[in-house]
Amino acid sequence: MPGTVLITGASSGIGAACARRFLAEDWSVAAVGRNREALERLRAQAPERLLAITADLTREADLAAIAAAAAAWRPRLQAVVQCAGDFLARSIEATAPAEFERIWRLTVWAKFALVRALLPHLGRPAALVHLASLAAHRDFPEETAYTSAMHAVIGLARAQDAELRGRGIRAAVVSPGTVRTPLTERSFPAAALEGALAPEAIAGSVWHLVETIREGGYIPEIFHVPQNSA
Ligand SMILES: NC(=O)c1ccc[n+]([C@@H]2O[C@H](COP(=O)([O-])OP(=O)(O)OC[C@H]3O[C@@H](n4cnc5c(N)ncnc54)[C@H](OP(=O)(O)O)[C@@H]3O)[C@@H](O)[C@H]2O)c1
Repeated sequence: MPGTVLITGASSGIGAACARRFLAEDWSVAAVGRNREALERLRAQAPERLLAITADLTREADLAAIAAAAAAWRPRLQAVVQCAGDFLARSIEATAPAEFERIWRLTVWAKFALVRALLPHLGRPAALVHLASLAAHRDFPEETAYTSAMHAVIGLARAQDAELRGRGIRAAVVSPGTVRTPLTERSFPAAALEGALAPEAIAGSVWHLVETIREGGYIPEIFHVPQNSA
């Protein structure tokens, strides 16, 4: 039976592919992003089954507003998929502490604080899926803020799962290598994206994690890398 999922980063890249996938599976989707136009374009796919929520995930007041909007629309969420994020490739010297904090706030703090705000609205079972990265497993130089935040995303999911599994809520991560999205298209030269994964492939992994949890199983992490990746 189709459920309701809340997806962050739904206005672009991997999050948008996840939203399209869940809509195609007949789920209802509460789609979160700052770009209202992009969310409205998604809504055209299934107007009755998509709620567009414009919010900045780094603002605590917005998180409460997201929870209130989702609860007013559908009484329970069966899944929360957090794809919102940003990338920063800089040396330690070139990374201002405020930039480090910005990456961590969006990548880690928001994933914690949004789950906290949504807990009263989660059905049972419920699946929490966070987007992590290959960077959590390979230690890339000149990406200290990003790489350390992605390590923390995996730790966050493990801590959430340990605390919430007794309540029927499981937390898992997808850790992709390079995926062709607006983020990578603006961050890397075209040659670096040859052989990159499609966002739809990552959406397939997210869907598999959620379905597995719904069926009573559990996969803690899918490590999803392109064929030519080390
Ligand atoms: N692409 C890759 O190769 C790759 C690989 C491994 C991991 N990842 C991770 O996967 C996640 C998604 O990446 P992507 O490639 O799909 O990036 P993307 O296309 O740039 O999408 C990023 C999304 O995050 C949202 N976002 C950013 N700041 C926000 C804020 N303050 N409040 C609310 N939403 C915010 C953006 O929405 P608005 O602009 O509408 O706010 C957008 O929907 C990121 O965490 C990224 O690090 C990506």
